[in-house]
Amino acid sequence: MPALTADDIREILVHVATPGGGPNLVAADVIKGLSVSDGHVSFAIEINPKHAELFEPIRAEAARLVEATPGVTGVTAVLTAHSDAPTGGATPSVQPAPAPKGPQGGGHKHGGPPPPTPEPIPGIKQIIAVASGKGGVGKSTVSVNLAVALSQQGLKVGLLDADIYGPSLPRMLGLTGRPDSDGEVLQPMEAFGLKVMSMGFLVPDDTPMIWRGPMVMSALTQMLTQVAWGELDVLVVDMPPGTGDAQLTLIQRVPVAGAVIVSTPQEIALMDARKGLAMFEKTNVPVLGLVENMAWLEMPDGTHNYIFGEGGVRRTAQELGADFLGEMPLYNEIRQTSDEGTPITASAPDSDATKRFRKIAEKVSGKLTLS
Ligand SMILES: Nc1ncnc2c1ncn2[C@@H]1O[C@H](COP(=O)(O)OP(=O)(O)OP(=O)(O)O)[C@@H](O)[C@H]1O
Ligand SMILES: [Mg+2]
Repeated sequence: MPALTADDIREILVHVATPGGGPNLVAADVIKGLSVSDGHVSFAIEINPKHAELFEPIRAEAARLVEATPGVTGVTAVLTAHSDAPTGGATPSVQPAPAPKGPQGGGHKHGGPPPPTPEPIPGIKQIIAVASGKGGVGKSTVSVNLAVALSQQGLKVGLLDADIYGPSLPRMLGLTGRPDSDGEVLQPMEAFGLKVMSMGFLVPDDTPMIWRGPMVMSALTQMLTQVAWGELDVLVVDMPPGTGDAQLTLIQRVPVAGAVIVSTPQEIALMDARKGLAMFEKTNVPVLGLVENMAWLEMPDGTHNYIFGEGGVRRTAQELGADFLGEMPLYNEIRQTSDEGTPITASAPDSDATKRFRKIAEKVSGKLTLS
């Protein structure tokens, strides 16, 4: 059988109409980033985010049809917002339901449906979130190394990249390729003893992904519930920065045992960290503690250069009555091993950074009920 091409898939997608009997997906020019690799088909359906709920059944139907095509081994189909959103994108000829469900719609405030009740994921004992207010402070670095250190304690650990805007875990773990799928559930990828899932495995790098509320909810919910995680003691979730849709989706969909807040000691990062902490407390998610990342730069003579100020995260933790989990200096090896896809906890087990990550991991696992 000749290898499948993108044109073969387009021929299938012409049989799926846009909502309200509109033009088909190909004629409407909403199929973006279509790629076929080893039988795995990926594409995004670009829409006006206001119509995400209307398009969800269309997305599912398109995925089903493509999945049924001989030679197709798996399908990843996601909704993405048109770059001119909110006015652009495919416009269905019927109006969407007035109050979108879920956190971003705030429908319940206006008498709409209440937010979903968190439901445990069978097989997963505890879910923890690694979060920060500000971007670039080291959440992903801490998530990866915390997960590896927890697994080195003998725990079964999963790692979910909830940063669908800028997934960085595939790179930090040196993972390429696509997860296997039977059309219903995705198999997580495996690295350093961890089971890993990231939007970075599913969407081609060159597809600009612009997400809006309902899509964030649907993408994240799929990565939580439609992945064969198996038995896990802990699922570590690497969050995007801030207090937006991804945070609310996670908290509303699954029981979160606790949050680890990462911050640099810099005042501007601490201000945002306080906001993050307040959000978790408001939603009854316990804050397991704060990590001070980039605490100082180790100078060749052994002295510390406090680039972002000294001790700010420890003080903030005290001020807010939260636990301080430890400080992590700026180490060239941390950056380097992240870029190379070999986390320092795995590649340099005797380094100071690894010892520090292990202590943080011990404090975290000590706070979780794992029996
Ligand atoms: N302690 C550290 N020492 C050296 N480099 C570090 C350290 N922590 C993080 N980095 C580097 O800083 C950069 C940002 O870190 P990272 O991606 O983990 O932050 P993030 O909070 O997840 O960012 P984003 O908000 O974009 O998701 C990366 O290049 C990482 O390798
Ligand atoms: Mg990150």
